[in-house]
Amino acid sequence: MPVALSKPPAVNPESPAPRRFLPSAPLRGRMRVPGDKSISHRSLMFGALAVGRSRISGLLEGEDVLATAAALRQMGATIARDGADWIVDGVGVGGFLQPQAALEMGNSGTSTRLLMGLVASQAITAVFTGDASLSRRPMNRVIAPLGLMGARFEPSPGGTLPLLLEGIEPAVPITYRLPVASAQVKSAVLLAGLNTPGITTVIEPVPTRDHTERMLAGFGAHLEVEDEGGERIIRISGQPELTPQTIDVPGDPSSAAFFAVAASIVPGSDLVIENVGLNPTRNGIFTVLRQMGASIEELSPRKVGGEPVADLRVRHAPLTGVEVDPALAPSMIDEFPVLFVAAALAQGRTVTRGLDELRVKESDRLAAMAAALTLAGARVEEREDGLVIDGTGGEPLAGIGPGGSPIATHLDHRIAMSMAVAGLASGGGVEVDDTRPIATSFPMFENLLDEITR
Ligand code: S3P
Repeated sequence: MPVALSKPPAVNPESPAPRRFLPSAPLRGRMRVPGDKSISHRSLMFGALAVGRSRISGLLEGEDVLATAAALRQMGATIARDGADWIVDGVGVGGFLQPQAALEMGNSGTSTRLLMGLVASQAITAVFTGDASLSRRPMNRVIAPLGLMGARFEPSPGGTLPLLLEGIEPAVPITYRLPVASAQVKSAVLLAGLNTPGITTVIEPVPTRDHTERMLAGFGAHLEVEDEGGERIIRISGQPELTPQTIDVPGDPSSAAFFAVAASIVPGSDLVIENVGLNPTRNGIFTVLRQMGASIEELSPRKVGGEPVADLRVRHAPLTGVEVDPALAPSMIDEFPVLFVAAALAQGRTVTRGLDELRVKESDRLAAMAAALTLAGARVEEREDGLVIDGTGGEPLAGIGPGGSPIATHLDHRIAMSMAVAGLASGGGVEVDDTRPIATSFPMFENLLDEITR
């Protein structure tokens, strides 16, 4: 029987919610992770641009996705929960209304950058604001291409939020080669191209997650994807009419990764994680864990919402350090914090490089994880573009005794969840300073963890 979903924790209490994660009993039984965050954002956005009513099941009800929903409502879409599903009544491509107040993006880079793309090619002006973490993150990577298409920006110093964006209609179609491997930048340009006459082209030297392309094609957009000399060329024809869809959102591999690592490092574990999305542009973490010796079996492989999905059976296994191929980085970009935890428990050395992008996520994840794991007793060297970790060979980490300083999570959900997992495989437990950020992507995380380790 899947674990019953109990009540999620209160979202956003006013003061930090510290918690000590203690050495754990084996993880056993079956569980289900919430819907994929990337696909959830896009389901709402594309539903809002279709003409008519879309229905979404399995939508992730995390704060980031709810920020997208709120912004789309401010621009005229109707979005409501209907039983366990969500329904979206779209306004059509180019049909957004002028928002009457700032679009509050909270912690969500995906909401911000993709919505900037959508606003850029419409005759509306929007102000984007965010929390302290989001307000430090670079927006010039989308300002540059959207500026070439004709949109005008007034960002805060350093190209950050708060930012005013004045869209333009008609925008100018461009051909843009991505200077960073970023699905958010790719998507921002393609989404601006949706309401731009003519053909907008994005060239991807390194492939990144392809949910935008897959889903837009499903909604009836005219999109061509070609491989040319190892690069992906994506062309979108502007101003299609999008047809509403029924979407079943698969489980988020990025959320499953925390439990896959936890079951791998806690002796005696034997856990089935149901309904995990295994899109090849997202499943790098499972490839690397298997290279390290993890026991991860794919049961009942199938398609959900056009994406490959399986139930993962993960059993405890001794892990060995590896050199992680930097070419895999885009397919596991959000999973490095928890991979570092696996590495800290492995036999021998794990070397990662080519991870400069981790410095501009919800926190500087190289610095945050180096500091956190060191505090928990791991041997970590921080380099410019990666971490080098010498593992314990399966011995628990020392952990942080009562009275020791807690882990600083820096408003970063994935640091909080990764260090919770580290606590399970520690001698003394690990205290994180604030669990509130977890609600951005995985509100049920602590409930599921408590039930599965009981
Ligand atoms: C996302 C893309 C990734 C990822 C983020 C979600 C998306 O960011 O880190 O959590 O949904 O497109 P980048 O594309 O900027 O690497």
